[in-house]
Amino acid sequence: MTRPRPAPPIPSDLVEALQSAERVVVMTGAGVSAESGVPTFRDALTGLWAKYDPRELGTPEAFARQPQLVWDWFAWRRELVEGVKPNAGHRALAELASRFPSFTLMTQNVDSLHQQAGSPEVLELHGSLSRVRCHACNRPAETFDSEERPPRCEACGGLLRPDVVWFGEGLPADVLERATQASSEADVFLSIGTSSVVYPAAALSEVAIRVGALLVEINPDPTPMTPLADYALAGPSGIILPALVATLDAA
Ligand code: OAD
Repeated sequence: MTRPRPAPPIPSDLVEALQSAERVVVMTGAGVSAESGVPTFRDALTGLWAKYDPRELGTPEAFARQPQLVWDWFAWRRELVEGVKPNAGHRALAELASRFPSFTLMTQNVDSLHQQAGSPEVLELHGSLSRVRCHACNRPAETFDSEERPPRCEACGGLLRPDVVWFGEGLPADVLERATQASSEADVFLSIGTSSVVYPAAALSEVAIRVGALLVEINPDPTPMTPLADYALAGPSGIILPALVATLDAA
């Protein structure tokens, strides 16, 4: 039987920096939901992209070629995330929101687990599996005939699609603008559970570095961001984030 690993100690100078921080910005990726049972994308054995080809499933071209396959794959992912719960890492981030004069949580995840954990505001850079819109006219669809796959837009008859960002598509401009603004004013930037290889999301930590923010990474494995981090806390976010909150409470 394997024992749960204890959290590594949180460095005391990081705790001090957080105690005096005014503007804290957090970027999360798939790793933060891994302990809830949501597969990441790039983990070699269990990642979605180890099993599926993103070009066949996550691009406008794939949707044009095989709309039913793409719709069904995202419907499977939606069902998967509907069946899981936020973990201790999501809950710790919801706790942190009220501890700083300014706190911005941005995520590349499309699973709504931060909102379910109680985070008051989440900048969803890659959209959300819980929303559907028309691929032709962009109109959001609240209800649709689920027999037809993909269902059709009531307004224009176009094909409905998940309201997520596919490869080759732009991020929602208003969300990216707010995320860039927050990053450019950050005192502390935490990069959690992301491989930091997908742009423009990965560029936001670079924005924060340029303005002199303290960069903290939480990830069991190294990423291209690790050499740039002031603190790289190696371990699962579901263990390290609650330990961080507890250490702040005790300080
Ligand atoms: P990745 O799958 O690329 O990276 C997940 C990261 O989480 C890896 O660096 C893992 O080491 C780390 N990780 C795994 N378990 C963890 C845990 N328990 N705690 C903390 N970290 C853990 O996922 P993302 O970086 O989110 O885009 O991928 C970015 C984007 O690429 C996704 O939003 C998606 C994908 O293609 C779109 O679909 C547009």
